[in-house]
Amino acid sequence: MTVKELKQKYLAFFESKGHVIIPGASLLPDNDPTVLFTTAGMHPLVPYLLGEKHPAGTKLTDVQKCIRTGDIDEVGDNWHLTFFEMLGNWSLGDYFKEGSVKLSFEFLTQVLNIPLDKLAFTCFTGEEENGIPKDEETFGIWQSLGVNPDRIQFLGRKDNWWGPAGQTGPCGPDTEIFFWSGEGEVPAKFDPSDKHWVEIWNNVFMQYNKDKDGKYQELAQKNVDTGMGAERTVGVLNGKSSVYEIEPMATLVCQVAALIDTTFDALSSEQNKAARIIADHLRTSTFILAEGMAPSNVDQGYILRRLLRRAIRYGKQLGITEEFCTKIADVVIAEMGGFYPELRKNRDFIMDELAKEEEKFAKTLDKGLKEFEKIKKGDQISGTEAFKLFSTYGFPLEMTRELALEKGISVDEESFDVEFKKHQEESRQGAEKKFKGGLADDSEVTARMHTATHLLLAALRIVLGDHVYQKGANITAERIRFDFSHSDKMTPEQIKQVEDLVNEQIAKALPVELVEMTLDEAKEAGAMGVFEHKYGEKVKVYTIGDFSKEICGGPHAKNLSELGHFKIAKEESSSSGVRRIKAILE
Ligand code: ALA
Repeated sequence: MTVKELKQKYLAFFESKGHVIIPGASLLPDNDPTVLFTTAGMHPLVPYLLGEKHPAGTKLTDVQKCIRTGDIDEVGDNWHLTFFEMLGNWSLGDYFKEGSVKLSFEFLTQVLNIPLDKLAFTCFTGEEENGIPKDEETFGIWQSLGVNPDRIQFLGRKDNWWGPAGQTGPCGPDTEIFFWSGEGEVPAKFDPSDKHWVEIWNNVFMQYNKDKDGKYQELAQKNVDTGMGAERTVGVLNGKSSVYEIEPMATLVCQVAALIDTTFDALSSEQNKAARIIADHLRTSTFILAEGMAPSNVDQGYILRRLLRRAIRYGKQLGITEEFCTKIADVVIAEMGGFYPELRKNRDFIMDELAKEEEKFAKTLDKGLKEFEKIKKGDQISGTEAFKLFSTYGFPLEMTRELALEKGISVDEESFDVEFKKHQEESRQGAEKKFKGGLADDSEVTARMHTATHLLLAALRIVLGDHVYQKGANITAERIRFDFSHSDKMTPEQIKQVEDLVNEQIAKALPVELVEMTLDEAKEAGAMGVFEHKYGEKVKVYTIGDFSKEICGGPHAKNLSELGHFKIAKEESSSSGVRRIKAILE
């Protein structure tokens, strides 16, 4: 079975059980400052888990691309990846424990035809102090389906509790499903610490909301949130001993081996691990870049930089001498661009940024490694030294920590932080936070500015390319402030071209047309939108001739003739990979 087949089977099964297939969301969570990436399928659904009505109904299913870098040190072992595809099904106040367990059981044993003997399960052991009981109910349901109690274990919070991504939010106990990946007879008694038992599915019974005082409040609406790791599941179903033996990872790892003129089978175990890390990190990086996010020293851009530089360092360790990031990204796009069109659409941006980052880091990597050899003499690397590796040689702190660990020494991270903060204050670099905003008011004048912003985005995409997306906007009656994904400073010619394009449209005195349609129809019609990944039965789409089409809440001018003359007052850096334009209507 391939990942593609599993995805099809999963969605078809849940659709046949009354679930509506919804599109997966962006990897960059919208309006949620508590997390940098979408880490689970439930993430974009939080408002609905808390009770808001979902336009698609109460039973949903999807495939969600996820990034988790918390386990980055484990990547390269058999089952961990920083990017993975999660299959999910949700009940928003519809079925609960029994319904969920029965659906999972049927899918595993009837659709995937997994012999029950190869499966094992965990349930939540309860927490008296928080008033959360032992989950005997779920235990009983598994048993009623024929599961031997020896194959069910009760575990605590670390394993069987799904907490909110941030400080507060929906949470609850879960039941996890494990598949025996070992050879020979399956042990009669389930031992969750035996690595041959691979977790493939997690069903969360989202029953509480953790409030800001840390208290658990029963939710009026009880939900189910499940997540099945697609790559892992396909790996174990095919009898493989790691996710790197199934597509697309297998091809990626072979490609890395080819860069040092060898084959995957001929790699030593250390080389094998390096090749896996490179394959994983470059795949994840390609997906982050596909969202218009460039490497930087803050937030998501920093994680991206860390992943890339880590891959480049392992490339060096492996003895790769040529530039290789774009080569691997090319394979990622070829292998996964069918399901994820954003990879193909943003190919030029992805390739440019990878080449730039690799060139930049390759210049200092050798010198930095030499510097590291010099300073590693004592038993600790000071904050000042670690900061020098960061600021002069581009070593993310985590890389210095990793190199130090290999030599059995530590890094004074506290004083690194002090240095880092001092530097931040001084240069104000990285202090620019991701900007999210909108209209200052809904006056007519501001609405005109807002319409001009749509023209601006369309013009920028014509002049600079399709990698340009809106990253933030702040619109008042006086001026537009508009942030967008683009790395390089715009040339005076480009600025002029953009102004001319916008003014040309204004001169046409076109009407601004509003049509309500479904999100799918809007996407079909080629509408842009920063709200692309929110689900709505109907969205508003504002169209200006054949120049601009955006999903947007409004308000807007009725006709472009109201706008006057558009002028870009300033073009500057906002944060790394993001430019900012200030513009006015004269
Ligand atoms: N939210 C749960 C998980 O990601 C299903 O494991």
